[in-house]
Amino acid sequence: MPSDPAPAPIPRHLAVIMDGNGRWAQRRRRPRMIGHRAGARAVDVCIDFCLETGIEALTLFAFSSENWGRPEDEVGALMKLFLGALEREVDELHRRGVRIRFIGERERFAEAIRARMNAAEAQTAGNTRLQLSIAASYGGRWDIAQAARALARDVAAGRLAPEAIDEAMLGARMALADLPPPDLFIRTGGDTRVSNFLLWQLAYTELWFTETLWPDLDAATLRRALDAYAGRERRFGLTGDQVAGTQPQENNA
Ligand code: FPP
Repeated sequence: MPSDPAPAPIPRHLAVIMDGNGRWAQRRRRPRMIGHRAGARAVDVCIDFCLETGIEALTLFAFSSENWGRPEDEVGALMKLFLGALEREVDELHRRGVRIRFIGERERFAEAIRARMNAAEAQTAGNTRLQLSIAASYGGRWDIAQAARALARDVAAGRLAPEAIDEAMLGARMALADLPPPDLFIRTGGDTRVSNFLLWQLAYTELWFTETLWPDLDAATLRRALDAYAGRERRFGLTGDQVAGTQPQENNA
């Protein structure tokens, strides 16, 4: 009897650039903020999808280091939106087994938001069903620089010899070092760039882009991304023949 085909591989870790909120609103002749509010609803769609499909980790780019340079009223309104989302959503996410954490320069946020971030992390720290990381005031270059600074401190304190520094050691100081690196990266909104997101961690991630604007995200779009992922051959720098044997486990280095 023919055996059942092997199930399509599901990414363990999905990283997403949620782009297109502003254009979604402009197409409706509405203020950009309406697009961000619709974008917050799409975050729920994405989390639901991960919980349903068994994706273990989801990392969302919510606000980049560069986004602080947007018009003051948009930044202020986004901060209100983040605070409101933290106040409303955390209990429900906790109930569903989601662990929440924030990566980025937290010191740049107002005290009220920082306090909510800390509380959300503490409340959900024991959850294991989905690791949800929100990149906020985050940049991949910032991440590499802060990891280098941590190593430099160890060298200056005499705890570490510069010659001992290797990729694994730097990788261990990067954000998300305790998670497997992203298997799949999705960017909505039609642009095909990485925009300073997880530069280190995306080294061998499969990239997938869609014209769909973030607020229009639905399960069918995410399913298309997973289907594309299932068709990719991940070689991690080896040959096709080599990976046809046993696939090496990539680590964060
Ligand atoms: C990019 O679209 C989106 C942002 C800079 C903000 C992302 C925020 C959300 C999705 C809403 C809330 C998120 C959480 C985690 C509660 P854009 O404004 O650059 O769109 P455009 O390219 O069409 O102008």
